[in-house]
Amino acid sequence: MITSPSYYDQIGGAPVVRDVVEQFYERVLGDDDLKPYFTGIDMPRLKRHMVMLLCSVLGGPEPYEGRDLGEAHAGMGITSEHYDKVGEHLFAVLQAGGVGEDILRDVGLVLGKVKSSIVAEPTETAG
Ligand code: HEM
Repeated sequence: MITSPSYYDQIGGAPVVRDVVEQFYERVLGDDDLKPYFTGIDMPRLKRHMVMLLCSVLGGPEPYEGRDLGEAHAGMGITSEHYDKVGEHLFAVLQAGGVGEDILRDVGLVLGKVKSSIVAEPTETAG
């Protein structure tokens, strides 16, 4: 049987994901629009959960044991614009790390799927 390596293996596994997450939050906290959301947040814990989430999304063996994303972001008033900025920071880091187009595309799909549970405002109002 021929199996292709998971995205997780292709990019270099947990050490690379940890690196990506480190750089990602450096960019996010360096962004004046986003920084206020993270005041008083336990960053080591958040990073740990983000690493678990990314690993499992990329097909790694680590299960995600953090909170449900809707629950974790409830009451923060995250705008669609700020959500997109966070997504752009993640993309920039993955791209700089040489992550391939196919992986970027799939990460983009996942970001699109979870957006409505993270953003506070309705994305669309049906007529
Ligand atoms: C782009 C998609 C996003 C993903 C995949 C994501 C992922 C996560 C994860 C895994 C956690 C930890 C959950 C837990 O506590 O178990 C978390 C928490 C958090 N996220 Fe996000 N997040 C996203 C977008 C955002 C955005 C747009 C903001 C703000 C602009 C944000 C701000 C926060 C904050 C402040 C926490 C800490 C909550 C707390 O500890 O009380 N996140 N996020």
